[in-house]
Amino acid sequence: MADHSILLLLIFEFLFCFVISENLESKYIKTKVLTEGMFCLTDDFLRILDEETAYSIIDCARFCSSNADCRKFMFDKETKLCSLTESGENCITDENVDNKVCFRQKSVCNEVNCIRCPFGYYGDQCQHIIQDCSHGSQLSLFPVRRLMSFIRPSQNDRILEVKCDFEHSVMMIQYRRFGCQELDFNRTMDEYAGGFGYPHGNYWLGLDHLYNILQNSRQFKFVVFVTFPSSSLFGWYMDFNISSRLDNYRISINSYWPDPNYSIGDSLTNATFNIDGRPFSTYDNDSSNHNCPDRFKGGWWFLDDPVCSRANVNGRRFDNNFEATWHWLDNLGNRTFFYDVQLRLKW
Ligand SMILES: *[C@@H]1O[C@H](CO)[C@@H](O)[C@H](O)[C@H]1NC(C)=O
Ligand SMILES: *[C@@H]1O[C@H](CO)[C@@H](O)[C@H](O)[C@H]1NC(C)=O
Ligand SMILES: *[C@@H]1O[C@H](CO)[C@@H](O)[C@H](O)[C@H]1NC(C)=O
Ligand SMILES: *[C@@H]1O[C@H](CO)[C@@H](O)[C@H](O)[C@H]1NC(C)=O
Ligand SMILES: *[C@@H]1O[C@H](CO)[C@@H](O)[C@H](O)[C@H]1NC(C)=O
Ligand SMILES: *[C@@H]1O[C@H](CO)[C@@H](O)[C@H](O)[C@H]1NC(C)=O
Repeated sequence: MADHSILLLLIFEFLFCFVISENLESKYIKTKVLTEGMFCLTDDFLRILDEETAYSIIDCARFCSSNADCRKFMFDKETKLCSLTESGENCITDENVDNKVCFRQKSVCNEVNCIRCPFGYYGDQCQHIIQDCSHGSQLSLFPVRRLMSFIRPSQNDRILEVKCDFEHSVMMIQYRRFGCQELDFNRTMDEYAGGFGYPHGNYWLGLDHLYNILQNSRQFKFVVFVTFPSSSLFGWYMDFNISSRLDNYRISINSYWPDPNYSIGDSLTNATFNIDGRPFSTYDNDSSNHNCPDRFKGGWWFLDDPVCSRANVNGRRFDNNFEATWHWLDNLGNRTFFYDVQLRLKW
């Protein structure tokens, strides 16, 4: 008799766990837990909605399901802490990753249609996906805020995650972010083409993806945005475009627009040092003729000139060599050194 009830209990437990874990997989996708450095944990792009104690992954998933804005959760099997976030593919932590799991929610649907899609997906069944952040803005899909979104620049491209700032109408294409895990930008052309890093931290979107976005005939300004511990400077360039890989991602860039109060100065289109029309160079595919990618320790649209470039945003935060250190040299020849830098597409 006792044997039977134990057996029944085991069967019951097995079925229960099976049903629940089936359920978890039908609603969530397991993603990665990354360690990106302690000042990289959160910002306006990854809003933490709630943190509470949960018994198990299933319990944590239940918390996420019952929160109207939750799209991702991280559960720590040791501390039992369950944290819910609004967006993002992967979870980040500054602690041990081994005890943690990360799941992001699939579309939330009722009998008729889907009532909540992962950011970037849209349509009754979340069957469509935006091409870039400006597309999402054009369709009025998002709250006017900053968030991580999925995009698919073109049909033949893959789905990517990016940072969209709907408040300032910008999308990040490069980020050297202080406090996040350092990332070497001395990379091959293949790496610059496909992208590298993690969009929440140090990151390069990828020239092929950028090319596909720019083919969609939405016009963007190319923005450089640098920050210091308590201020920022920036500059806009009009008519930004790049050509395909076959043409070495040649840049089109035009007319610098200084902000009256926060201008960083023109470093790219000065008549003597204009990068308009220059191909992209990397150490393994160098069109500069002056060994520029090696000297600047990163890829860029370098000039065919011993000067290489009047700016370096893909080098090192600090290097013994001035050329390799991040800097921006304006028309008066004044140098700006900075703390953080982003390249953005502004619509
Ligand atoms: C970039 O150039 C291509 C080819 O000339 C063109 O089809 C595309 O519309 C341009 N994109 C932008 C944003 O101007
Ligand atoms: C620049 O600063 C001046 C003086 O503080 C201010 O009057 C002006 O509105 C600012 N311009 C912009 C575009 O922010
Ligand atoms: C760079 O690579 C492209 C092919 O992807 C090739 O056509 C070009 O000649 C290369 N340029 C240099 C300078 O290596
Ligand atoms: C860049 O990386 C390549 C390959 O690892 C290496 O040979 C080269 O020395 C590096 N250049 C710099 C400036 O670090
Ligand atoms: C370009 O830069 C040089 C060197 O800093 C400067 O002398 C020149 O005036 C600049 N040209 C323009 C058009 O601003
Ligand atoms: C920029 O350089 C000029 C000439 O070297 C100098 O007179 C001026 O003070 C500098 N401006 C700033 C903001 O450093």
